[in-house]
Amino acid sequence: MTHREPAIGALPMRVPAPGLPERVTIYEVGPRDGLQNEQALVPLETKATFVRRLVAAGLPVVEATSFVHPRWVPQLADAAELVALLEADDQLGDRARDLPVLVPNERGLDRALELGMRHVAIFGSATETFAAKNLNRTLATQMEMFEPTVARAREAGLDVRAYVSMCFGDPWEGPVPIDQVVTAGRQLLDLGASQLSLGDTIGVGTAGHVTALVEAFAEAGVGPERLALHFHDTYGQALSNVQAGLRAGVTTYDASAGGLGGCPYAVSATGNLATEDLVWLLDGLGIEHGVDLGALVATSAWMAGELGRPSPSAVVRALGADRAQSPA
Ligand code: HMG
Ligand code: MG
Repeated sequence: MTHREPAIGALPMRVPAPGLPERVTIYEVGPRDGLQNEQALVPLETKATFVRRLVAAGLPVVEATSFVHPRWVPQLADAAELVALLEADDQLGDRARDLPVLVPNERGLDRALELGMRHVAIFGSATETFAAKNLNRTLATQMEMFEPTVARAREAGLDVRAYVSMCFGDPWEGPVPIDQVVTAGRQLLDLGASQLSLGDTIGVGTAGHVTALVEAFAEAGVGPERLALHFHDTYGQALSNVQAGLRAGVTTYDASAGGLGGCPYAVSATGNLATEDLVWLLDGLGIEHGVDLGALVATSAWMAGELGRPSPSAVVRALGADRAQSPA
């Protein structure tokens, strides 16, 4: 039996399914969630090239870095230098200030404001243990930290996204009750965030759970238009979970180019849903997203080379392997 690998630029057959959104926004987290877990320091210029290539591939939102404590995430200690480098070049210029960045607290916000950033993201936890591990706070005191952070960000005219982590399960506490997630998520939105990203930090969620969580938020007055879904692919459920999200009307999906990622403070967190795998699904369903798959795969294949290991993305492997064999 002969087997032909798909060539780079190949696309799945387009067969729309009824009842799904016509268009989704892909929120790219590769430079932040993807790189924050890398042990070896990635050179600043490599990070800048990664961001530039992702923007050039058509990703509408690229989360660039984190203004967290540099001791907690040494890989992203060069956040200010990265923004300055991106701003200085012709490709992005002032648009570098539109790239979202994580800020956990007022100190992080001050650092972002100094650079004129226009989009920040806070990140809360749905569980006590992860609030302690990731933020050195309790469920209650994380909100005390976020409250003035969001208030000042909004006063300064910034848009604020809020993440909530451990929405589907926690490596220390096990299953996380849905009402506990809704309570944390509502609190974050009520502070003044425009969007809530529901994080399956350790990738244990399954499709029915996604449906139930989105429905529970709707019952609490938070419709799917205010939600984003953030899946890690630890157990191979991310794309199935995206389909559940699409059926429930959610139109923003976080993903990481090449499937890079993990959280340094969550045991067993592996890479995010790979952006290429998401794009393949959306293309097959005929859902618009604006991303050039070939340019994205080439970027992830290049980044895999920089990091010295193959990409975990199935689509990058299927298409990137073919590309590696083609003549220069
Ligand atoms: P802390 O030790 O409690 O900090 O850490 P503090 O408030 O007590 O301050 C101690 C010192 O740190 C002070 O300096 C502050 O100024 C300084 P001193 O007065 O002693 O000289 N400091 C800072 N310096 C620079 N930038 C800052 C900053 N804040 C304080 N922003 C803190 C609390 C929140 C800072 C710490 O826990 C932290 O940085 N955590 C970040 C952890 C992290 O980045 N995790 C990964 C991102 S979350 C994620 O990946 C999940 C997600 O993808 C969704 C999902 O998958 O679920 C989003
Ligand atoms: Mg994450």
